[in-house]
Amino acid sequence: MGKKTFYITTPIYYMSNKLHIGNAYCTVVTDSMARYKKLRGYDVKFLTGTDDHGQKVERMAQKAGKTPQDFVDGLAELSKNLWDVMNCEYDIFMRTTQPFHIKACQKLFRTLYEKGDIYKAEYEGLYCIECETFFRPANVPDKLCLDCNRGLDTVREESYFFRQSKYADALLRHIEQNPDFIRPEFRKNEMVSFLKSGLEDIAVTRTTIKWGIPVDFDPKHVIYVWFDALPNYATALGLFGEDDTEYKKYWPADVHMVGKDILRFHTILWPAMLLALGEPLPKSIYGTGFLLSDGAKMSKSKGNVIDPIELTQKYGVDAVRYFLMREIALGQDGNCTELALVNRINADLANDLGNLLSRTVGMIDKYFAGEVPETQSRTSFDDSLTETCKSSAAKAAEAMDQLDFTEALTEIWAMIRRANKYVDETEPWVLHRNNEQGALARVLYMLAETLRHASILVSPVMPQASAEIFRQLGIYNDKLKSWDSLEFGKLPAKVNIEKGGTLFPRIDVKAALGGAEKENEPVPSLPQITIDDFAKLDLRVGIIKECEKASDKLLKSQIDIGGQTRQILSGIAEWYKPEDMVGKRVVVVTNLKPIKLRGFMSEGMILASGEGTGGSPVRLVTVEGDPPAGTGVR
Ligand code: MSP
Repeated sequence: MGKKTFYITTPIYYMSNKLHIGNAYCTVVTDSMARYKKLRGYDVKFLTGTDDHGQKVERMAQKAGKTPQDFVDGLAELSKNLWDVMNCEYDIFMRTTQPFHIKACQKLFRTLYEKGDIYKAEYEGLYCIECETFFRPANVPDKLCLDCNRGLDTVREESYFFRQSKYADALLRHIEQNPDFIRPEFRKNEMVSFLKSGLEDIAVTRTTIKWGIPVDFDPKHVIYVWFDALPNYATALGLFGEDDTEYKKYWPADVHMVGKDILRFHTILWPAMLLALGEPLPKSIYGTGFLLSDGAKMSKSKGNVIDPIELTQKYGVDAVRYFLMREIALGQDGNCTELALVNRINADLANDLGNLLSRTVGMIDKYFAGEVPETQSRTSFDDSLTETCKSSAAKAAEAMDQLDFTEALTEIWAMIRRANKYVDETEPWVLHRNNEQGALARVLYMLAETLRHASILVSPVMPQASAEIFRQLGIYNDKLKSWDSLEFGKLPAKVNIEKGGTLFPRIDVKAALGGAEKENEPVPSLPQITIDDFAKLDLRVGIIKECEKASDKLLKSQIDIGGQTRQILSGIAEWYKPEDMVGKRVVVVTNLKPIKLRGFMSEGMILASGEGTGGSPVRLVTVEGDPPAGTGVR
């Protein structure tokens, strides 16, 4: 039996401008998913491309003093270059100006016309060139676009119409019967209410523009840009072309990744076209959120865009990919700032992952001249690390199957942090000092094996970093890089490392973001207090004895504060796992009035730094050494 297929697509981007990080986001998500599916053994097809037609493109070309074709060709080359830089490995680069697509679209149009699902009538309406969208006058009394708020043009002309209304009921039934058809769930509800409010037929040709695909049997009409663009996903595989082998093999698409602003075209117009043609519908359409800059959608026309090429040149491609996939929960909007990116690089990539690799490889080099010998019996620390690796891999896979890379990466990082903690617990330098070579070998093997797991799991998001980790661990056998090898202990006993450079260098925030600007920012402050005010706080060392999750955000800890145990709730579940809390010496405000949170009493507060916003993590204030519980803190 052949491999299972997986067909995933990005939107085809308008060639009216250079692409920005918001566009790149969609392609990076798609690429990560495509890579994940390849890793899981699927026969993957990944399409991206360019939407070359439309009135906006025509106008921009005119402004640039170029023919539309020259104009889009130039931008298409830039897009290809961007995907190379972002390490996005597409299989098909689709362009709507390709002759085979033009022919296929004309055939599709004719087929629907002959079937009676396209008919000619008089059209009167309002059109937004920016969004390439028609509106009914009744829906837009102030003649402003409902999406971008720009002024609308009045259009009155003879048009061909697509009988979309005919398919509303069938579409509603399909949505009900296929829970994954529109994701995320809350977007599905928006689309369903839109459908239920009544679907109208839609004008699908224009006589006033030239830059598009002419209707072959009535060439003064040019096909509406969305009616030409949506079928690209199928014509790229050969639908209405000369050879439809690939179409038969890969269609229906498994996922169309699209921005939430174009979800309606993909979940209503495109499926209605397919229903009219009698072709299968895509299995799933996922609407992603927007990358925001200071709370507003990043877009060329607003002039608030970040150039992805500049960003990758400054911070490296994998760091940018990691940031996009980790920071912005799929489906939600997310702020994209350089500061948040730098914080992620320093905390997650340099501190956690990079540090784990450099200390592991460094110790193997130092203590065993680059080769870890056979190992000895296991300890309870080993079991705990093995368990974490196993459960993190399983949970990460489950999350990636659902396209939830934020959750997947959180799980993978739980494993990486557990391994760093394991180093502190096992103290390899002490083992070396005491000449416990067997135990030391075991510790280093465990770390190398955890890193091999991490490298496999992060490879869809950070292919280069993953390759570098394998290289430094001396792993060249592809079997040991495969998903099937995610089993603790598969790494052969003898590890031959190849020490390399720093995986992710720490970034100096001031230098990267312009020190002067930051220095002038006032430090937020509260009114002065006296020492007597301060003395009102009863701060003590607390030792966390037990901890569990009380909600998505809250951890519930039992803390020994010297002679008594307090139950304290803290909003830190996003940054700490309950098992990582146990044993920590924290600073507790013991005389804070108890309150009830989520039905649990909280009798005090533990101190931590950071607000947890903009990507910067919350970090607990811990106490050095081992003072007994209850020791006063001044
Ligand atoms: N050409 C159409 C798509 C046709 S698909 C058959 C189009 N092109 S676009 O270039 O305007 O947008 C492409 C994608 O970029 C859309 O999914 C859109 O949501 C996405 N983004 C544009 N700005 C964005 C952000 N600021 N953030 C995230 N995605 C954004 O629409």
